[in-house]
Amino acid sequence: MSDPVPKAELHLHIEGTLEPELALDLAGRNGVALPYRSADELRAAYDFQDLQSFLDLYYGLMAVLRTERDFAELADAYLARAAAQGVRHAEIFFDPQAHTARGVPLATVMAGLGEALAAAPARHGVTTRLIMCFLRDEPAASALEAFEAARPWFGTLITGVGLDSAEVGHPPAGFREVYDRARAAGLRLVAHAGEEGPPEYVWQALDVLGVERVDHGIRSMEDPRLVERLVRDQVPLTVCPLSNVRLRCVDRLADHPLPRMMAAGLLVTVNSDDPSYFGGYAGDNFDALRDGLGLTGEELRLLAANSFRAAFLSDAERAAYL
Ligand code: HPA
Ligand code: ZN
Repeated sequence: MSDPVPKAELHLHIEGTLEPELALDLAGRNGVALPYRSADELRAAYDFQDLQSFLDLYYGLMAVLRTERDFAELADAYLARAAAQGVRHAEIFFDPQAHTARGVPLATVMAGLGEALAAAPARHGVTTRLIMCFLRDEPAASALEAFEAARPWFGTLITGVGLDSAEVGHPPAGFREVYDRARAAGLRLVAHAGEEGPPEYVWQALDVLGVERVDHGIRSMEDPRLVERLVRDQVPLTVCPLSNVRLRCVDRLADHPLPRMMAAGLLVTVNSDDPSYFGGYAGDNFDALRDGLGLTGEELRLLAANSFRAAFLSDAERAAYL
């Protein structure tokens, strides 16, 4: 990797940073049986046809995450790797329902993540935010329950809500109530939309949920009126190029819409999504844009500056980065 440009990472699932070696270590420590004998064997399973085939492995492997220490080590390992690739600020997603459904108390998850995030500025030179995501393929009532259970951490450890998991067939509009409650609680609002799902889901994320940023959003390019709206309001899109290739949302990196999105005037940022599974961390995504799409140094610096503009930072914090 070349000298990494300072950047913020705004689309990163902490569970998607679980490297095969750590997964096997944790499986051994926690007595969890995995059907993989080596890290290479596990890595060989990272061959995805679509979002769902990835999610099946991603949720399955979470079985190894059981204790506060597991979550702290997971997050600390991500922060070390991200820092080495130029990440100075990370807004980190986690999936509370995926842990509580397995019998891991929310307090355990929060204590582990909280410990790693609190240490991150001094240990890695990285500031953070934490965003709880609702699983959109679970009922809205489950999202409401997860939201209420997380109230003790609102405004301290948790600063926002998001929406992730299987997109098609699970439109944003079903989650209006929990987003209304999150807004009333003073939380920041984002949602995955337009990754595999249609432009209509991006409209719903904006107009029904009232999100401030759209995660992925690449299919917005199919709807010129939507592009106009996103440009007009400078709604940030957290694009994840290597993820889109691995999950076959685009055929090849060379076909990725990111250059067209930039040319249209969209506020685009570059992120790694689930770096352990998709072949690279934030800086690797920047490198892929340079090597695979021919983006110039100036374009990459603009994308990095966009990441700080789109971050949930105060004006004073932002000024220190830009
Ligand atoms: N899309 C939807 N849900 C997810 C993803 C993603 O890329 N990564 C982890 N959960
Ligand atoms: Zn994602």
